[in-house]
Amino acid sequence: MKNSRFKDKVALITGSSRGIGSAIALKFAEAGADVVLNYRKQGGSSEAQGKKLCETIRGMGRRAFLIQADISQKESVRSLFAQAAEACGRLDFLVLNAARTPFKPLEKLLEREIRQLVDTNYIGNLFCIQEAVPQLAQQRGSIVFVSSLGSRFYNVSYPLGSMKAAMESVVRDCAEGLKAKRISVNAVCGGIVKTDSFKVLRQLWEELEFIPEDLFVEPEEIADVVLFLCSSDSRAICGQTIVVDHGFSNRLYQPMQKK
Ligand SMILES: NC(=O)c1ccc[n+]([C@@H]2O[C@H](COP(=O)([O-])OP(=O)(O)OC[C@H]3O[C@@H](n4cnc5c(N)ncnc54)[C@H](OP(=O)(O)O)[C@@H]3O)[C@@H](O)[C@H]2O)c1
Repeated sequence: MKNSRFKDKVALITGSSRGIGSAIALKFAEAGADVVLNYRKQGGSSEAQGKKLCETIRGMGRRAFLIQADISQKESVRSLFAQAAEACGRLDFLVLNAARTPFKPLEKLLEREIRQLVDTNYIGNLFCIQEAVPQLAQQRGSIVFVSSLGSRFYNVSYPLGSMKAAMESVVRDCAEGLKAKRISVNAVCGGIVKTDSFKVLRQLWEELEFIPEDLFVEPEEIADVVLFLCSSDSRAICGQTIVVDHGFSNRLYQPMQKK
């Protein structure tokens, strides 16, 4: 274990069977926290990856629990937080990381795709916040939302951006609304990370191949800032979204094409 700054604390990370969520879970475990992992799809490779991650974290001497739950379903979210409370007895940190999106223009989305987009990436996060607040209030805990540059920049195949923008606004509102309960609420806005969803995005976004390698972000770099926002070092930060993108968004005015 690298350090113990979060010893005896408990972090629940939605969508943490793979990708950025799993990196966040590992960082929490390295910092001494017990971890509740979550995924959506039963019986798939995500579940298998979640089980493996659970074993890895237990091997580090921390407690880890893997709970299947679809955050877009209220009853499923209730069950997730009830199971987590029973297993861990407390909750210090909620990381809203799960996301799911079709990669196509907003105007071409089918009705079920629009509903899934909003149900998972907006309503689902609100369900999680509502369930977590009573437990977080007992620990003066933290909520961190994982956003993306789609919240502020246009990409034709990224309807998730509009949900990220809405959630950054929720973060600001909740930070004020939950201040009296001593719960901190902030967000990390990640640049481009090479996870499974990146593999799909690269098929639709031709310019991706012109982006210099040093502008890509590692999952662990997002995770480091999530943990910072859960630590007392960030006590003066309230309702903010911190961009973690190696300066990618500073350079959008430059042409990406090779000459
Ligand atoms: N990749 C990037 O470039 C990038 C950049 C900035 C921000 N982000 C954000 O970072 C977060 C993680 O991204 P990622 O690329 O690591 O994602 P990913 O590899 O696609 O993994 C998504 C995770 O979320 C889970 N999930 C999806 N829908 C869910 C639901 N309804 N209920 C519970 N869990 C659900 C998935 O479980 P199943 O596999 O079971 O569905 C999986 O564990 C997302 O919020 C994403 O928008 C990503």
